[in-house]
Amino acid sequence: MKKIDGKKIAANKLTQVKEIADKLEVEPALAVVLVGDDDASHLYVKLKEKAAKGVGVELRKYTFDKDVSKAQLQSAIEFLNNDIDTHGVIVQLPLPKHLDADEIVGLIDPEKDVDGFHKVNQQKFINNELCVYPVFPHAIMDLIDSEVSSVKNKKVVIVGKSDIFDKVMTHAFEVEGAEVKFISCINKKRLNTKEQTILNEADIIVTACGQKNFISCDYISDNTVVIDGGISKDGDKTVGDVDISDCSDRDIIISPVPGGVGPVTIACLLENITELTRQQLSKDERD
Ligand code: GUN
Repeated sequence: MKKIDGKKIAANKLTQVKEIADKLEVEPALAVVLVGDDDASHLYVKLKEKAAKGVGVELRKYTFDKDVSKAQLQSAIEFLNNDIDTHGVIVQLPLPKHLDADEIVGLIDPEKDVDGFHKVNQQKFINNELCVYPVFPHAIMDLIDSEVSSVKNKKVVIVGKSDIFDKVMTHAFEVEGAEVKFISCINKKRLNTKEQTILNEADIIVTACGQKNFISCDYISDNTVVIDGGISKDGDKTVGDVDISDCSDRDIIISPVPGGVGPVTIACLLENITELTRQQLSKDERD
């Protein structure tokens, strides 16, 4: 088994992002809306803060109590949408149960949607219209590009639980000529025999379930590239969807959790905020 070094890929991207940020007339400002006291979310935001500092992006944190109302978040996001000194906004996910993530993310002005999570931007991406590359799919493609020279004609299997993620990820592969199949992990403890066969025939597997040990290496053929985008807890440990304990003697290339998709997603986020800042500055010049 070979592990893909997500930290190294992220570091290379961050060097390029810093060069772009250094040439901008202003320091890009990224607003992060952080609700509640979820440890993992606080940790991710800390990691984003550290990386942002390293490339010359100002990250402004707006923290809210876990009981915050939708109306309070709405007025905060509206303020940030209208603030010309804020170039991009993200809402750290997950949100507490009483808040609908799609609805809250949908309040962000699509022109300031740095994550590329807004439905308008995801649809634009699928339609090949100009928009930021959604960070999570972008990070997954960057990890694959580090191992595979072209995905053309490759058999790709996406194992996920979100329809929009499936559509966006499928599009990212299909524009490059890959053949994509989707397996849902919603309400499943394990894959059925037919799904195991589909997985076995894949050249590339992408998972985003957040279910520890959901995929065993027994279902994966040699020479397959596996991008594990799942995150869950196993005691104190953060783990992905793939049980790698039985993969060590196999010829499989895998992105580990932690240290795979996570750091590259942060680098993609910072790439997007510099791009949105550049777009907003050139729009201001035209107006
Ligand atoms: N929670 C886990 N990953 C992400 C991410 O990439 N963006 C946001 N907003 N929340 C997350």
